Amino acid sequence: MIEIRSCRGFGELGACVRLQVETWGYDSNDVIPRKAFLVVQKIGGQVIGAFDTEIPKGEEALVGFAMALPGVKTGKGEPRPYLHSHMLAVREGYRNRGLGARLKREQRREALSRGLRHMEWTFDPLEIKNAFLNIHKLGAIVRGYQVDFYGVSSSRLQGGLPTDRLLAEWQLDSPRVRAFLEGHPLAAHVIEERILVPASIYQWKASEAGRKRALAVQLENRQKFQQAFSRGLAVLGFARDAEGNGVFELGLLDQTKLD
Ligand SMILES: CC(C)(COP(=O)(O)OP(=O)(O)OC[C@H]1O[C@@H](n2cnc3c(N)ncnc32)[C@H](O)[C@@H]1OP(=O)(O)O)[C@@H](O)C(=O)NCCC(=O)NCCS
Repeated sequence: MIEIRSCRGFGELGACVRLQVETWGYDSNDVIPRKAFLVVQKIGGQVIGAFDTEIPKGEEALVGFAMALPGVKTGKGEPRPYLHSHMLAVREGYRNRGLGARLKREQRREALSRGLRHMEWTFDPLEIKNAFLNIHKLGAIVRGYQVDFYGVSSSRLQGGLPTDRLLAEWQLDSPRVRAFLEGHPLAAHVIEERILVPASIYQWKASEAGRKRALAVQLENRQKFQQAFSRGLAVLGFARDAEGNGVFELGLLDQTKLD
């Protein structure tokens, strides 16, 4: 059994730091220390863990976590608080059993219980699995692209490529998100454009020999996303085929399903 709940005490926060290093392989320049996890909890953010209840000690039982920072949107109207979810990780042997989605659902529940209605996070446009989770399973939308967002990264998942990121927007109590979470995504939207990520991207990113091909896909897709977003399109759907290729589906956003 897996229990999903907020992390408690130094030991569990330290376990998040260890799982972070295990997941991304960060060096000391990139790793977020326990102190920062602690502060995040104190100032209105979230550190939510997934615990294997078969393992008795809380710190060792941590097999996943989600961490979100409190943020403020400024611009038109009153400043609006929201959460920026910075990390989501599930230990390798526990993946593809729904834990990532359960951690996100708990983030949503906890945020709504405090009156927070909006959450954002960034993800690598070349990560097919993450796109499937974020768009298809959770109902997030995307209408922003950041080139080389973090600069050089020691993450082993990055494969030495520029850290381009898509910005996922999760309007927590919108009809769209509720429908996706209940397992009946809203009626098909008109797809104006598709952007493809080949399944081999994982192999290409992981090897020196394949990196050029991975970079070529990144650069080509970067341009496509930027052009599509500048035309007012948004990522509204994501599909994967039998070979594991991923397809971002872009269309015009129906704002009424988002508010
Ligand atoms: C991203 C991550 C947190 C997801 O956790 P998880 O517990 O495996 O996620 P879930 O099981 O809830 O959902 C994953 C879904 O993707 C699907 N999936 C798995 N591999 C896939 C692939 N190569 N392509 C497309 N979808 C894939 C799974 O089948 C599952 O969908 P389903 O429940 O409909 O079968 C985990 O893989 C991880 O820790 N990755 C490394 C760190 C990372 O990339 N974090 C996110 C960015 S900050």
